[in-house]
Amino acid sequence: MEEPNRELFEKVVKVAQARGFVFNASSIYGGLRSSYDYGPLGVLLKNNISKYWWKDIDNDSEIAIFPVDTAIIQSSEVWKASGHIAEFSDPMVDHKPTGERYRADQVPDDINKEDLTEPRQFNLMFETSIGPVQNENSTVYLRPETAQGIFVNFENVLRTMRAKIPFGIANIGKSFRNEITPGQFIFRTREFEQMEIEFFCKEEDENKWFDYWVKKRMEWYRSIGIPDTSLRLREHSDNELAHYASKTVDIEFLYPWGWGELEGIANRGTFDLSSHEKASGKDMSYFDPETNEKITPTVIEPAGGLTRTLFALLCSCYDEEEVNDTTRTLFRFDFNIAPIQIGILPLSKKDELIEVSNNIKNILQENYRTEIDVTQSIGKRYRRQDEIGTPYCITVDFDSLDDNSVTIRSRDSMEQERILITALPGFFSDL
Ligand code: GAP
Repeated sequence: MEEPNRELFEKVVKVAQARGFVFNASSIYGGLRSSYDYGPLGVLLKNNISKYWWKDIDNDSEIAIFPVDTAIIQSSEVWKASGHIAEFSDPMVDHKPTGERYRADQVPDDINKEDLTEPRQFNLMFETSIGPVQNENSTVYLRPETAQGIFVNFENVLRTMRAKIPFGIANIGKSFRNEITPGQFIFRTREFEQMEIEFFCKEEDENKWFDYWVKKRMEWYRSIGIPDTSLRLREHSDNELAHYASKTVDIEFLYPWGWGELEGIANRGTFDLSSHEKASGKDMSYFDPETNEKITPTVIEPAGGLTRTLFALLCSCYDEEEVNDTTRTLFRFDFNIAPIQIGILPLSKKDELIEVSNNIKNILQENYRTEIDVTQSIGKRYRRQDEIGTPYCITVDFDSLDDNSVTIRSRDSMEQERILITALPGFFSDL
């Protein structure tokens, strides 16, 4: 098992910001604490993670998973029924001498406990209002999870897609929590993206499907390039369980400061569908054609964080090595996940070389994310491409004009090979 590596944190944050993965939000105004914008490479990486998440669940021939994209602002009734208005809170204490506020279970050791106020509950939902008149009926909340958008659409999907259990509904999107202790870069922010599946099954099959999802989600993290040694499972103890869950297993990642949650897989039982049925008066049951009975399906929920996965991937793929007495910094992203897969580097800015580079881009860009990089020396360009995790660079030189060949350089081995331009599509499709 690997050990935590605190130094890694500073390095990853530095490269991520310097190279256009993540920027501090509102930076020209001094920034807003724990708020981040995703730059060009961060967006590409985030899109790739999301693409592979959808692809993985879409490829499953055993079960149907239906996508939805639900509103961030729902009726406040949703959050009343789901228990978030009453339960989604943390106990907070104030440090009287300084006015600093802490989560009751996260007070730093050096603080005198006698200087703290009694714990008070602090709801984590962001409250706002809709319409021109502000009153108690205009209060709405920014969703703290994408899951409820799925539950309130259960009947819509069931009916329109003629779904049969077991089946799932999947949702990716922004969620918002007024976290008391945001921090550690994009690990815990107040605005973040989730990727959630609510999987509806029969109660008697709940353990089978719970285990299925734990296994499947672990495999997915490995498949996008997170090493097995940085992943582990941890089951919640009874006093840790959320108000809706009878069992939860976290997929944990070894962050630079230690193990922490990457995804939670929970058995939510019939809690949500029953609560919404009771509160809305609408039928949320499923008619089982095999038994001719109406049942309320049991729900297994794999709930992951898209932005947190991006951070885990940056930490997993960051590497440094000494080459010719200098340190080479790189992200060892898998070919499929890398924001830029192929860098095309003309040796000079001469029109002939740019033209060949453009032709190569035209050949490859339909299937691969490519970038033509013309500035600075070849060495510096290789270094930049390594630093943003580009697995291959194609160098176009003056010989290319005669032999119709280019040099391919691998990020990981740094080996170079000469190859005909016409052989490029085959080279990359064989990877
Ligand atoms: N629907 C269940 C649910 O939301 P959760 O464990 O609170 O469960 C699921 O959240 C995932 O969302 C977490 O495992 C984490 O990856 C991500 N997440 C939660 N809070 C976050 C935050 N403040 N910043 C970034 N990601 C967060």
